[in-house]
Amino acid sequence: MLAYLQCINKNCHEKFPVIAKLYHCPKCESLLDVNYEFPKTDPEELKALFRARRSSLIPKDQSGVWRFRELIPFLSDEQNIVTLFEGNTPIYDAPKSATFAGLKKLLLKHQGLNPTGSFKDNGMTTGVAQAQALGAKAVACASTGNTSASMAAYASRAGMLAAVFIPSGQIAYGKLSQSLDYGAKTLQIDGDFDAAMKLVLELSQETDLYLLNSINPFRLEGQKTIAFELLEQCGWQVPDRIVIPGGNLGNSSAIGKGLAEAYQLGLIDRMPKMHIIQAEGASPLAQMWAKGEREKLLAVDKATTLATAIKIGHPVSWQKALRALDWCVGGGCHQVSEQEIADAKAIIGSDGIGCEPASAVTLAGIRNLVNSGVIDKEERVIAVLTGNLLKDPDYTVNYHLDSLYQKSQTKTEIISHQDKIVANFANKPVQVSAEKTKIKEVLGL
Ligand code: F0G
Repeated sequence: MLAYLQCINKNCHEKFPVIAKLYHCPKCESLLDVNYEFPKTDPEELKALFRARRSSLIPKDQSGVWRFRELIPFLSDEQNIVTLFEGNTPIYDAPKSATFAGLKKLLLKHQGLNPTGSFKDNGMTTGVAQAQALGAKAVACASTGNTSASMAAYASRAGMLAAVFIPSGQIAYGKLSQSLDYGAKTLQIDGDFDAAMKLVLELSQETDLYLLNSINPFRLEGQKTIAFELLEQCGWQVPDRIVIPGGNLGNSSAIGKGLAEAYQLGLIDRMPKMHIIQAEGASPLAQMWAKGEREKLLAVDKATTLATAIKIGHPVSWQKALRALDWCVGGGCHQVSEQEIADAKAIIGSDGIGCEPASAVTLAGIRNLVNSGVIDKEERVIAVLTGNLLKDPDYTVNYHLDSLYQKSQTKTEIISHQDKIVANFANKPVQVSAEKTKIKEVLGL
C-alpha cells in the first residue's frame, strides 16, 4: 500500500515521499495532501472491521482515529502511535436547538468531548505519530488555544518538547491552563494568531522544530476520521448536510477529504452538502464565497470576534476548504454575527450539551439558512461542535450575567450601546440569603 505527499495544485500534482519534512510543495508552494493508492477492499468488510474494533482491548483499536487505520495508512511502524483514546465522540439529538433553528430534527456531533476537549485531538494523534516517525524531538504550533492544548498533551506523552505560540491575552483561560499544565513551553506573542502563525512557520523551516498546525497534512488525516465516525454513527446513511465552524479552515478541509474518500471507496453512495460558518469579523472565506472569488484569498487584517478560537483572518487552508465545498456540492460558506453566536450557544447549552463559542456558529448559521429557505425543515442536518463548554467559562458567565460586550470588556474604555450582546436567553444566578423560607420562595416550593 502506497502513501505519498501530493501537491494539491492541479497543474502541479507533484508527489513526494511521506518521510519528507514538507509543509508546502517545493515546486509551486501550494499545500500538500497525504494521498494513498488504496487497495481494492469490500466496503462492507471494512465497516464490520471498524465496528468490531469498538469492543477490542488494544489501544490502537480503542482510539476513534486509529480504528479507521486502513483509511490513514501512512505509518510504516505503528509503534509510533501516541493515543489518548481520542475520537469516539457522541452524536446527540438536540431538540431545543432544532426548534430554535426551525428544523424538525438536528444532530450535534460533539468533538468537544475529546481528551483535551476539542477536535484537535483527532488530528494531533496522527500529527505526533508522524513527528515520531520522523524522529522529531520538538514540535511547535501557533494557536488560538485548542491546538496548543492538544499538542502540549500529545507531545508530553511522546516525550517531546512542545513549543506553543499564542497571541498574548487573546486565548481563553481554560485553554491556556491546559498548555501550562501539560508542560509546554508557552510563548505569548505580541500580535494576533495570524502573526504567530507566520512566525512559527518560518521558524519550522529554519530549525528542527516540527510544525503541527493544520498546514501539516498528517494532522488533517486524523481529523478526516471525524467524517468516518459520523457516517458510521448514521449507519453509513449520508445526512443531507454537515455544518462546520471555519477558522484556519483545516477541519472543514479534512472532513471534506474524509467524505470524498469514503465515497471513492464505496463506503457511502453519495456526498452530503457542506456548510462552513465563520464569525462576521473573521470571515475571509464567507466573503470570497459571497463574491464568487475562488482564486485569491480575501484576507481580513485584524480579525475580530469573541469566539477567539476562530479569530483568524489569513486562514492557511482556504484552498483546501474551497475544494471541500466543491466536492460537497450544494453547500457554501456563510458568516454569522456575534449576537447570533451568543444566543445559539445558550440554546445548545439549554439542550444539556453546551459548547464553546466557536462551535455555536454552526447553529446560528443553520438557523439563518433555514430562515432564508436554503435548508428545508425536514432535512437531515448534522452540526459538528468543535470545543467543550468549559474551555471558555468567562464568555458563558458574562452572557448569563448580561455583561458580554463585543469589542471590549475593560471598564476603562467607553463601551457603546452597540457593543453589548443582548442576553436573550440569559439564565442569571440568584443571590439569596441562607434561609429556607427565602429559598422556597425563589424555587416556588
Ligand atoms: N472550533 C474550535 C473550538 C477551534 O479551536 C477551531 C480552531 C475551530 C473551530 C476552527 O477550525 O481552524 O480547522 O477551521 N482552532 C485553532 C487553534 C485555530 O489554534 O486551536 P479550523
